[in-house]
Amino acid sequence: MENSSLVAVSLLDNFSNRLANYFKSIGYKKGDSVALLLENRPEYLGIWLGLSKIGVIAALINTNLVSDSLVHSIFASKNKGLIFGSSFSEIIRQISEEIRTINLYEFKDDDNIQKLYNARAIDLKQKLQESLCIVPPELSETETQDSLLYIYTSGTTGLPKAAIIRHSRYMLASGALFYLTGLNRETDILYNALPLYHSAGGMLAAGVSLLFGTPVVLKRKFSASNFWMDCEKYNCTVAIYIGEICRYLLAAHKPDMKLNHKVKKVCGNGLKPQIWQQFKNTFGIEEIYEFYGATEGNAQMVNIDGRVGAVGFVPVLGRWIMGPIIIQCDENTGEPIRTKGGLCKRCKVGEPGLLVGKINQKQLIKAFVGYADSQATKTKILQNILVEGDAYFNTGDILVEDELGYLYFRDRTGDTFRWKGENVATCEVEAIISNFTGYNDAIVYGVEVPGSDGKAGMAAIVDPEDKLNIKELAQGLKSKLPSYAVPVFVRVVKSVPLTGTFKLKKVGLQKEGFNVHKIEDGSLYVLYAKNSEYQPLTSNIYSDIVNGEMRL
Ligand SMILES: *[C@@H]1O[C@H](CO)[C@@H](O)[C@H](O)[C@H]1NC(C)=O
Ligand SMILES: *[C@@H]1O[C@H](CO)[C@@H](O)[C@H](O)[C@H]1NC(C)=O
Repeated sequence: MENSSLVAVSLLDNFSNRLANYFKSIGYKKGDSVALLLENRPEYLGIWLGLSKIGVIAALINTNLVSDSLVHSIFASKNKGLIFGSSFSEIIRQISEEIRTINLYEFKDDDNIQKLYNARAIDLKQKLQESLCIVPPELSETETQDSLLYIYTSGTTGLPKAAIIRHSRYMLASGALFYLTGLNRETDILYNALPLYHSAGGMLAAGVSLLFGTPVVLKRKFSASNFWMDCEKYNCTVAIYIGEICRYLLAAHKPDMKLNHKVKKVCGNGLKPQIWQQFKNTFGIEEIYEFYGATEGNAQMVNIDGRVGAVGFVPVLGRWIMGPIIIQCDENTGEPIRTKGGLCKRCKVGEPGLLVGKINQKQLIKAFVGYADSQATKTKILQNILVEGDAYFNTGDILVEDELGYLYFRDRTGDTFRWKGENVATCEVEAIISNFTGYNDAIVYGVEVPGSDGKAGMAAIVDPEDKLNIKELAQGLKSKLPSYAVPVFVRVVKSVPLTGTFKLKKVGLQKEGFNVHKIEDGSLYVLYAKNSEYQPLTSNIYSDIVNGEMRL
């Protein structure tokens, strides 16, 4: 089948050696970094593997990015070069002026391509064919503490940041998946339809094949209608998910469909308690391993015994060795609550609070290495939590613990939200709206939509003089933002409430959401997926959305 490929390790090794030798020959050296913009394919792994052999760090770029967001990511880690697939050439052309200082390497990602699209780029495939040297390069004195990859995350605030993934971190993460889920390299085959630029697909799933030899079937792009057919065809026994995938699979399932796949285990992040059992029953899954952990964080957990809805387990007696704890916080802003003495308090059983992970740079599992930008690293560290002088990684997530020590995810605080499996940084969207409208005030936040995971983006735009052209706004946002970041709802307001901090204003707006019965002034719009235009949000459309008859 054309869209999936079985990763063949020795071919991959030769490929990566050629790539390493080529980049070495043109002067790349340890500590340099190269951005990689390519769809899922075996060569994706070969490219970063090759770069790592000469100590060069690959920055894995989200393939949905366009325009300013793409430029931002390319510069967020100091990349000397950019490797991109030919299918991205139009997107690269649009930013050519901004990235003129960066060396371009075009990778022909389709056999029918004769000529390069980009006149300035070097033909990477051709260079690799010319470079017959498959002898491994002399490995640079790489150590486990050296950086291997940059994987972008939004953290909880600010623009996307390049999180540093060290070799040790990569090994730990894929090792955790391999051992905790009891994978067997002789009998198991893992199905991976998650993007390789995210940590679940690119670190956990890809790592079990690279480091532990479990075959992985790599899909170009997730497809709900092909998912189980692929699993059947390739004899997969395990699949990796994000919560959104589980929902799409359930939505695409018809009762008369015959399923003959052999998948008995799934592992991933974000499967909601409401659909957990239904997912198991519908698809005949025996074991679900739900895990929790930010790409860059130190508060990882896995729910290894299938407790419905839990993201992990911290044994009551093991608390002093395990990193993550839940502390009391302001539920609206996620700010930790400090006692008179200045410290924080742990939550009781059943009391939701902020999950934080104790930082201990000497222990791999508790280390927080941070981002390529050290200023951004500081904003994620909380100090003086339980004792004077301690330091914790702030996950920005609200969790709650039960009496047995299982933890459950509640909400994400801060200025980012998740939609369609991707993180959206509200400040990035706000900047683009303000720039487009020319007004100062636009507030972007996420709102819950029944039956959807994550939060849909909503923008409150201040328009005292009725100048906003909603049609142009849709076009403008579409050209500047990846589709998942374009606000699904727009609310036009005459002014923003003046009281309270910026965060509290957001909370107020967020509580009203897109509820036409609470906001009756006719100022609400919804983005129609079909024609990418904003339409007035009527109470009929509102009901369709809430009842799941209209998908966003
Ligand atoms: C799947 O397993 C069957 C039966 O063992 C085998 O005949 C088939 O070739 C396998 N498919 C693949 C793609 O390996
Ligand atoms: C705002 O628009 C100007 C002019 O079009 C552009 O130079 C600038 O980069 C834009 N800023 C953002 C944040 O998009």
